[in-house]
Amino acid sequence: MLKGKKIILGICGSIAAYKAATLTRLLVKAGAEVQVVMTPEATAFITPLTLATLSNKPVLTEYFDEHTGEWNKHVHLGLWADRLLIAPASANTLAKLANGLCDNLLCAIYLSARCPVYFAPAMDLDMFSHPATQQNIQRLQSFGNILIPPDSGELASGLVGEGRLAEPEEITTFIEQSFATGGVSKAREDAALPLAGKKALVSAGPTYEAIDPVRFIGNHSSGKMGYAIAETLQGLGADVTLVSGPTALAAPQQVLRIDVTSAKEMLEACTQTFTEADITVMSAAVADYTPVEVASQKIKKKDPHFSIALTKTTDILASLGAAKRPDQILAGFALETNNEEANALIKLENKNLDFIVLNSMQDKGAGFAGDSNKITIIDRNKQQTTFALKSKKEVATDICNYILTIYNTKSAKSL
Ligand code: CTP
Repeated sequence: MLKGKKIILGICGSIAAYKAATLTRLLVKAGAEVQVVMTPEATAFITPLTLATLSNKPVLTEYFDEHTGEWNKHVHLGLWADRLLIAPASANTLAKLANGLCDNLLCAIYLSARCPVYFAPAMDLDMFSHPATQQNIQRLQSFGNILIPPDSGELASGLVGEGRLAEPEEITTFIEQSFATGGVSKAREDAALPLAGKKALVSAGPTYEAIDPVRFIGNHSSGKMGYAIAETLQGLGADVTLVSGPTALAAPQQVLRIDVTSAKEMLEACTQTFTEADITVMSAAVADYTPVEVASQKIKKKDPHFSIALTKTTDILASLGAAKRPDQILAGFALETNNEEANALIKLENKNLDFIVLNSMQDKGAGFAGDSNKITIIDRNKQQTTFALKSKKEVATDICNYILTIYNTKSAKSL
């Protein structure tokens, strides 16, 4: 299956490094040419001699050979490989790679590699579920690197949970399948995306509340923020339903769009989809009031003054919040002009949200209609994260990265 394929096997300092011997053996047996590169810490767990013998090649650890001065050309190695496989990938190396650090040969090869990169983490469950590690993993995935998820089970520490290196047979199959279609297997890649198999519901745009057949009450929402969130969640592997009020935007590819006009229609569409949704982001600018009656014919101007009786719409987000299960993630937006944080916190609490995205109309470039936004995310512990003014696409990435962190924490807790 791997005949003639060139694989760099990066081994990090983890107790699971002992499994790298079996992995090397399996890759070689499948026909691959394997160049083992160890971090200096890895050599404390398994000897280079073992791996050099199994791979039929000297193992590389340092930038140069101390005795001969020979330079181990990381750029050359990075270009040589058809696949860079890092297994076991330690928390430390993941952090270095996610941040572009380059203090050992393996990191330098990673930065030089043009081939697909696969990484199989191995560490204790708390280290794995820590937000720092999760963010590093997400960062690597956002670079297009492919996670070979760890198994759940008994760990070397005696604790039981997620963090055990995937079995060498499993990793070998993963790599074999990546070549099966002549390149990186799309299906495997999709399966490895962080939100693969998850369902997301996003609402976007304004609602229009009809006054008569030609007039309505609406607002300036463009829908851009919600559409960018829907697209980003889809890119992370989620199966996304976008409930959209009237906008001029095209639906992102592979996103199911349900078009609605009024707050009532949006409520119905969201309520139907919500039960199935693992992640829901209400970014629509839903009208708070709607005319009590819709005139069946165009209202003619007669009197110098004219008023319309309005009645409150259902707060969709609050009704979803009331029905929310602990395993679901629910987020909303707050667009405020004053007392921003206090108002946002009240909404977070009243609507039973996991977090709220605050936009202040005081911030130039933030809010509804434009292409940029400036947000602060506030969570249930009143923890605030403020982001710089960015394009709505970049803001969507920040929001979705935040969702991934919460999602991974919830998943780890439910183990
Ligand atoms: N929202 C909703 N249904 C409504 C009104 C708002 O689902 N009928 C959602 C929005 O999609 C947004 C959040 O609630 O995610 C906050 O909306 P906002 O209008 O800022 O807050 P309100 O709760 O309506 O409060 P107010 O208008 O009084 O500030």
